[in-house]
Amino acid sequence: MAPEENYLDRVLTMEVGRCTEAAAVAASTMIGRGDKEGADQAAVSALRTAFNKLEMDGTVVIGEGERDEAPMLYIGEKVGTGNGPKIDIALDPLEGTTLTAKAMANALAVVAMAQGGTLLHSPDVYMDKIACGPGFPDGVIDLDASVEDNIQSLARAKGAPASEITLCVLDRERHERLISGARKLGARVFLIPDGDVAGVFHTTEASTGIDLYVGQGGAPEGVLAAAALRCVGGQMQGRLLFRNDDERARAERAGIADLDRKYHLKDLASGDVIFAATGVTNGTMLDGVKWEREHVNTHTVVMRSKTGTVRYIRARSRQQIYE
Ligand code: FBP
Repeated sequence: MAPEENYLDRVLTMEVGRCTEAAAVAASTMIGRGDKEGADQAAVSALRTAFNKLEMDGTVVIGEGERDEAPMLYIGEKVGTGNGPKIDIALDPLEGTTLTAKAMANALAVVAMAQGGTLLHSPDVYMDKIACGPGFPDGVIDLDASVEDNIQSLARAKGAPASEITLCVLDRERHERLISGARKLGARVFLIPDGDVAGVFHTTEASTGIDLYVGQGGAPEGVLAAAALRCVGGQMQGRLLFRNDDERARAERAGIADLDRKYHLKDLASGDVIFAATGVTNGTMLDGVKWEREHVNTHTVVMRSKTGTVRYIRARSRQQIYE
């Protein structure tokens, strides 16, 4: 194994978890304060500081926006000490800014890292997505099929009636047809107010009861979710959606030639990848940050695709609330 790969695999896996912990702790100071920008800013700044301690030549490929609109962790920003392996980084320091501002469930700090050139350099536009967890035959879901067909296909693969299928969908007007189509078949719909990285990830964990994720959400979140699925298995497809010429121009600047392309999981994250997420607010799969008088407690998942290892880490660190 090349030294770079060894470093990426073993050392960075744990270090990435430290970085998402730092972002989550910083964001947690803003839970329930009604200030989503402030919460995001706290997470961004903490994540950048944590990254810059790592021995790597990191480049943000999915970040807080383009250089002219984001002062920190913008697309193309170099992070790390500059020594060490070349790493592409996709990040969302606070996935669920509104969830945090309103103290609602499932806000996360999320990072994926991969060897250079293997994550889709997605522009900040919407993506049409469909995903399911591991254990189903290839092609059981299809982005171009109707929601009804996808539910029935998954139900057949599960050996269960459509009424036993649960879909996770962002609660948005644009999904009305999809939701009513699913309910007409008798399927359950688990509506989430925000946070579709967690939404996709839910399909991989039997305890959530969620079989299928469908709908339109952020494209960067789509790449992050794909990185998670690469580690634990599952299927995902996505297609970028453009509302105007400015968004099309963003895609062209990101090097995307075929704007209508249907991406499969390995087109979104093609190489070995590591993924980490720390809960900010309590969630279905991760607990949120908990402050005690002299400690702060975090709950993190770190995973790597090469081995499929999934580690849940509960950390207690000495931190003063009123430093
Ligand atoms: P923020 O973290 O920026 O608040 O985004 C949360 C989120 O719900 C994502 O998970 C999702 O992909 C996207 O927003 C959906 O966008 P919209 O709110 O425009 O439907």
